[in-house]
Amino acid sequence: MEKQIKIRQPIVTVVGHVDHGKTSILDRFRGTAVQKEEKGGITQKISYTKFPLDRIKEMCPLINGEGIKLDIPGFLFIDTPGHAAFTNLRKRGGSLADLAILVVSIKEGIKPQTAEVLQILRSYKTPFLIAFNKLDSLSGWKQHPGDLKNSIESQALHVSDEFQEALLTFQGALSGHGFDSSLYYEIDDFRKKIAIVPCSARTGEGMSELLYVLCGLSQRFLKERLEISKEAKGVVLEVKKDKSMDYIESILYDGILNVGDNVAIASFGEPIMSKVRAIEEIEPLSFKYHSVKTVGAASGLRISLTNKEGVLPGMPFQTVDNNVEEVKKLFRKELSGALSLDKEGIIVKADSLGSLDALITLLRQSNIKIVKAGIGNISKSDLVSAKTNLEINALDAVIVGFNVELEEGLEKGEVKIFTDGVIYKLIENLQDWRGKKNEEIEKERMMGLATICKLEVLPKFVFRNSNPAIFGVRVVSGRLRAGLNLIDDKDEDVGRVKGIQHDKESVDKAIEGQEIAISLPGVNFERRLKDTRYLYSNLSAKQFNEFKKNKDLLSASEIRTLQEIAGIKKF
Ligand code: GTP
Ligand code: MG
Repeated sequence: MEKQIKIRQPIVTVVGHVDHGKTSILDRFRGTAVQKEEKGGITQKISYTKFPLDRIKEMCPLINGEGIKLDIPGFLFIDTPGHAAFTNLRKRGGSLADLAILVVSIKEGIKPQTAEVLQILRSYKTPFLIAFNKLDSLSGWKQHPGDLKNSIESQALHVSDEFQEALLTFQGALSGHGFDSSLYYEIDDFRKKIAIVPCSARTGEGMSELLYVLCGLSQRFLKERLEISKEAKGVVLEVKKDKSMDYIESILYDGILNVGDNVAIASFGEPIMSKVRAIEEIEPLSFKYHSVKTVGAASGLRISLTNKEGVLPGMPFQTVDNNVEEVKKLFRKELSGALSLDKEGIIVKADSLGSLDALITLLRQSNIKIVKAGIGNISKSDLVSAKTNLEINALDAVIVGFNVELEEGLEKGEVKIFTDGVIYKLIENLQDWRGKKNEEIEKERMMGLATICKLEVLPKFVFRNSNPAIFGVRVVSGRLRAGLNLIDDKDEDVGRVKGIQHDKESVDKAIEGQEIAISLPGVNFERRLKDTRYLYSNLSAKQFNEFKKNKDLLSASEIRTLQEIAGIKKF
């Protein structure tokens, strides 16, 4: 009897910037037209395709032609929305993807999403190749008979020049991201260089070469990784309710799963224990499912569970028999490892375990500490944690949410909240804000005691002449604080601000542009201030020098006032 096949399909994620052609390439592979049916031509959620060996051979005549023997039973392709990268696709110990096709439009090269994907591919050490797509959009490009190499080499001179220029620019940018690359047919060692396969999903050119290189990479580098082990292991993609069935959509990436099996699903607290009630498996080259009793990795499944309370997208699961405690321990460790937190830091939320993990990894690479992390929308308890941070470090009074939002009815107050569906944007915005906030904090520190301030007296608003004098002023520049000592433009003492009122409310500070009332004990307005137009903060020479040193942190009007004060005080 022939030895049972123990090698599973490699899981290949197709990733890249929005609109660079991920779905179109998969359509070519499948012989479908999914892209045209998509709402706005945009992929909204992760989907998978079981791609059998027969189809590979059919599309890739070279394989039979050169007598190449393939051990893999096919591929499991995963299409991803451009805006969510494949952050959801994580399994225990790394990326769920065995391989990735990074799709890059030849017209656009590396875009922000491409850069984010490159960063994730590197941090997960996922082998990948590049589909340099939309070759047909080079003006004058002709598909020549024979293989792709021949076609590339037979173009008219000006077309060839344009191609080479696009290629070189792209390779340069790629090396800026730390990856060495070459055209696939120029590579001897696929471990050292990233293969670029020029192609067009529109004309179909290069599709067979893409599959060929993919097969080569799988056969050469993945065989050990692809051996099927005993336990069935998978990851939850979605939790769904359907008329006929309440199920989780998931990818089985290892082992064999049977109806009736016991599974443990990793969760934040104790792992969730459940029994498999029913399984539906995706059909090859299709999006239809059929009911099965047993299924082997790798495949896309709908699993009906006896207990799915608390199950969330991104959670890993595996079958258990008499090793329940061992698996539980493993899962506990896994989650505490992935989500180990710092003593201080910001609060992080995401829509799935995988995306949370990716977000945390990338934040850490930017040296940002995280004190609390979780799945789901931003809740009251997240706000409370962030508010507590206001007291400790204002830089940490921040909540970063990936694909989540603030729960309805909550007030964010002084807490800063960043939400986005693109991780790199979140991190960029957070960094910008931190830079500015840092300057502000530095300025506050510097101004701890001293304040640059120029006030215009408003003689029409004298509410009380003396004991104390209460009258209106406008903050011309800088800021006013209670307790500030004021002088006039002849360097004569006016007194110390006791109280500030803004809109009839007591406040402890006022900023440029505000009109407020101040109280000055020991001053008789009529006698002392009737003819005074401006009041200034009384700075010492030391304070003045400190401000001068940190001029960068001051606004233009503050600098002007600082000069005025220097003139008055003859510094
Ligand atoms: P998202 O799912 O939104 O991230 O996009 P995607 O990467 O899946 O791109 P998609 O396949 O939806 O293609 C985007 C657009 O580019 C569509 O209008 C396609 O027809 C077009 N397109 C895809 N491949 C090619 C190609 O090889 N050549 C040309 N000229 N257009 C292409
Ligand atoms: Mg798409």
